[in-house]
Amino acid sequence: LGLNLVHMEEVASTNAEAKKLAREGCPEGTVIVAETQKGGKGRLGRVWFSPRSRGLWFSIVLRPPINLVDTPQVTMVTAVAVATAVREHTGVPAGIKWPNDILVDGKKICGILVELNAEMDCVNFLVAGIGLNVNIKKNEFPPELADIVTSLEIESGQHIYRVPLLRCLLQHLEKWYHRWLNEGFAAVLNKWRQMCVTLDCPVTVHTIKETYSGYAVDVDDTGALLVRTGDGSVQRLIAGEVTLRKQ
Ligand code: BTN
Repeated sequence: LGLNLVHMEEVASTNAEAKKLAREGCPEGTVIVAETQKGGKGRLGRVWFSPRSRGLWFSIVLRPPINLVDTPQVTMVTAVAVATAVREHTGVPAGIKWPNDILVDGKKICGILVELNAEMDCVNFLVAGIGLNVNIKKNEFPPELADIVTSLEIESGQHIYRVPLLRCLLQHLEKWYHRWLNEGFAAVLNKWRQMCVTLDCPVTVHTIKETYSGYAVDVDDTGALLVRTGDGSVQRLIAGEVTLRKQ
């Protein structure tokens, strides 16, 4: 991954650029990285704060031979790779919150947004977008984010050079992507469980339809979150927003 790497000063969104290149037939593993994004996209239509040269804002084009139902796995492959790379490269104890946030000490340091293009049940291509807060100081975040996000500089107490970090991220993404394709999802899931910081925790999960309160007991072999609610039943959730509940 990353043999074909496009570096841009300013884009609306690296995910949008990557989708454009993918539609034009770029090779698998093409990476678009931008210094800043004017319309960085988060999940659920949110905006992703992408200050110039202070983070790694990038997207990777993937063409795995999978069906639509298996696409949540790509998010989990990406999360495992990013958390592993961050730990290895900086020593910062990154963990995963289902399905795709990377947290340090309960604060978000990285978000992952996987978008796809499919026909019928078949995936044509996927774009895995990664936004990692690198050299952002606490007072540089917008006030509404200040208490819920963090950066590698804040957590490690030092400036982190982005190029070697990106190289490390791409190496781990490549390793886990191939592991997933060759060995299957179980290998990824094991590692994901080890790195997840919200298993066995009291959580509230907001889905489009309902809100569930309970304990995040596990993920099943498709990557769905299993939450045991107050009445003892276990809900299987394939999408939603998890918040840790204080007891
Ligand atoms: C989230 O809401 O947690 C997902 C955030 C994903 C942000 C990244 S930054 C690079 C890529 N381009 C985008 O527009 N979004 C993703």
